[in-house]
Amino acid sequence: MHHLIPKLMPIGITEALSSRFPSELGQEPSRCAPPGRAEHADLTELKSVVESTLIRTMALANSSRRLSRHVGLGIVSAEDHSNYILHREELEILSPRACRRKQIEFATGRAAAHVALKQLANAFPVLRDHKGEPLWPEGIVGSITHCYPWSVAVAIKGPNLFTVGVDLETTERMKGTDITELVCSNTELDWVRGGNLQERLTMIFSAKEAVYKAFYPLCRRYIDFKDVELTWVPAQSCFHGRFLAPFGPNLPRGQVCAVHCHSYTELVFSCVIHSRGKVGMHQTPGSWLTRST
Ligand SMILES: CC(C)(COP(=O)(O)OP(=O)(O)OC[C@H]1O[C@@H](n2cnc3c(N)ncnc32)[C@H](O)[C@@H]1OP(=O)(O)O)[C@@H](O)C(=O)NCCC(=O)NCCS
Repeated sequence: MHHLIPKLMPIGITEALSSRFPSELGQEPSRCAPPGRAEHADLTELKSVVESTLIRTMALANSSRRLSRHVGLGIVSAEDHSNYILHREELEILSPRACRRKQIEFATGRAAAHVALKQLANAFPVLRDHKGEPLWPEGIVGSITHCYPWSVAVAIKGPNLFTVGVDLETTERMKGTDITELVCSNTELDWVRGGNLQERLTMIFSAKEAVYKAFYPLCRRYIDFKDVELTWVPAQSCFHGRFLAPFGPNLPRGQVCAVHCHSYTELVFSCVIHSRGKVGMHQTPGSWLTRST
């Protein structure tokens, strides 16, 4: 579902945030997570990892879509947020109760979305539904992720042929709290424990969040971490994710999708691109979407 395009009322992010929210960046003793190692990442390196993962995802999807022409990518750092403008309608989405980190993440995420959109169309506001799903202009699908200080957005010109989910995580986030039981099946746990535990757990977690972002817009219901089981396929450098429950007429139990996942330094980037019209039809080895029984 796409929103009606409201009138464009761009406003500087710094100006907007400082008039709407009293504290300055960094002044508030944040209740959000402290900065992680993601801050040490370099833009060129991050861009190269994200671009190569996107290209691999599109190649395995047998997609004729091309980066820049049909697929827009935006990567924005919180440090650069003052260089971008927000639409007033986007600003109105943001809760004034959100902590400063969340405010900045939202602003950089929308800035990344505008960068991605501008490669494909005009700069439209990207609003969101009551469950958090970003609402893109007609004929465009996309996904946004934040891993402070970075925000990444990917937009694909459809029209409505695809759905996409991206996620960027830092392995730092896995320290302190043990989420293995919450996130992993027994089979996934075996894989996680067979290597670098923190890295592999981050990969599983990130891949599943990308799956959620890609498929939520199609089924509009919560997908639990245990509803999809991931198997790492080294030959394709990706996970095969199998649905353990049905999520709608076009998303039956046993559906398999490819989740590309690239881990470097302390960061993990995951990406799912799903062709809406071809569920269950591709059975070839190179296919990114098959149906297992
Ligand atoms: C929604 C969720 C996936 C977001 O992931 P996160 O790591 O917390 O945060 P990220 O920064 O990576 O992503 C946030 C972005 O996700 C997007 N998003 C949020 N809810 C969404 C939804 N229902 N559908 C699609 N995208 C959504 C938004 O664009 C949001 O950014 P914004 O608020 O600035 O627009 C996560 O909070 C969640 O609820 N996970 C539980 C469900 C799950 O992952 N199940 C696994 C199924 S296998």
